Amino acid sequence: MEKSYMIYGVGFLLSYIFFKFRKGLVLGKNKKSLRNKVVVITGASSGLGEGLAHEFYKEGCLVVLCARRRQELDRVRNDLLSLPSSEQRHPPVIVPMDLNDTEDLPNVVKKILSITERIDILINNGGISHRGSVIDTKLDVDIRIMTVNYFGSVALTKAVLPYMVKEKSGKIVFISSVQGLISIPGRSSYAASKHALQAFADSLRAEVSHHNIGVTIISPGYVQTQLSMNALTATGQTYGKMDATTENGYTCEYASKEMLKAIVENKNEVVLAPPTARIGIFLRHFIPSLYFLAMVKRAKKLMVK
Ligand SMILES: NC(=O)c1ccc[n+]([C@@H]2O[C@H](COP(=O)([O-])OP(=O)(O)OC[C@H]3O[C@@H](n4cnc5c(N)ncnc54)[C@H](OP(=O)(O)O)[C@@H]3O)[C@@H](O)[C@H]2O)c1
Ligand SMILES: *[C@@H]1O[C@H](CO)[C@@H](O)[C@H](O)[C@H]1NC(C)=O
Repeated sequence: MEKSYMIYGVGFLLSYIFFKFRKGLVLGKNKKSLRNKVVVITGASSGLGEGLAHEFYKEGCLVVLCARRRQELDRVRNDLLSLPSSEQRHPPVIVPMDLNDTEDLPNVVKKILSITERIDILINNGGISHRGSVIDTKLDVDIRIMTVNYFGSVALTKAVLPYMVKEKSGKIVFISSVQGLISIPGRSSYAASKHALQAFADSLRAEVSHHNIGVTIISPGYVQTQLSMNALTATGQTYGKMDATTENGYTCEYASKEMLKAIVENKNEVVLAPPTARIGIFLRHFIPSLYFLAMVKRAKKLMVK
């Protein structure tokens, strides 16, 4: 009797080690396939985009750093160039862009292709958040957040797609948010823009699958970045505060590493968040009345403040 338990135990342990080992091997192999790939990252001047630039650069990719602030992009590029390395790496390329300027984004893609000749992975990461109630928030602010977070990524994706279709390969990544799956009070515009991205990504994935183009959408919970500092208030001012939730979130390094893994594993969607956020998503879909009640409580607390 006891002997058979031991055999089961050892068997379980061995298969666990085997699968862990296999997973490590597969990840290692997939990571190797990243070498020399051209990876365009929007919002590369700060936070997650900067973290992603580090991870892809270290895997031997040619990273194209995009955002508005040229100086910050230079800083990120210099940081990358000063990383110690035993292997030859591709110097990062800087192409400034404004996601609000959707009409100019096709020109930006042309410019990138004229330098790199290829785009293997597009990471739509650049974005801004929102702090304000629906009643107070000026429509201009809603439009701006929707434009930068949603239409900017859509315009960029549309500009890159014909090229990827011709090549019969490519990968389009969207950095959404837990708030692309559930909305909380005080962030209506942000949550709406991220929900829109989720819907867009699901349609796109089905459409381009036979062109051998993959679509990955990643929904992180709080990550330690400048997102709350840069958020727009109801009147369109910069919020300028570091929220405790953001401060206590995942480190950029951890989140970026997990994102790279999800991308090389060709995941369709990933929720990169702690259990509380996952419970929220579960409740919203399976016991919505409970979720709505919890949000009413949360909104009341916001109003008292
Ligand atoms: N931090 C979190 O807790 C969290 C959670 C879930 C999802 N996310 C998502 O992660 C992504 C990255 O944000 P982050 O957290 O790293 O915040 P961040 O530190 O504020 O970085 C935002 C990036 O977006 C760029 N950006 C903003 N407006 C732009 C515009 N008009 N045109 C081009 N680029 C623009 C900024 O660059 P410039 O200012 O130089 O243009 C910056 O590089 C966002 O999509 C955000 O929604 C973050
Ligand atoms: C965003 O783009 C719109 C339309 O081109 C323009 O009117 C507006 O001034 C831009 N906003 C910012 C903050 O650049």
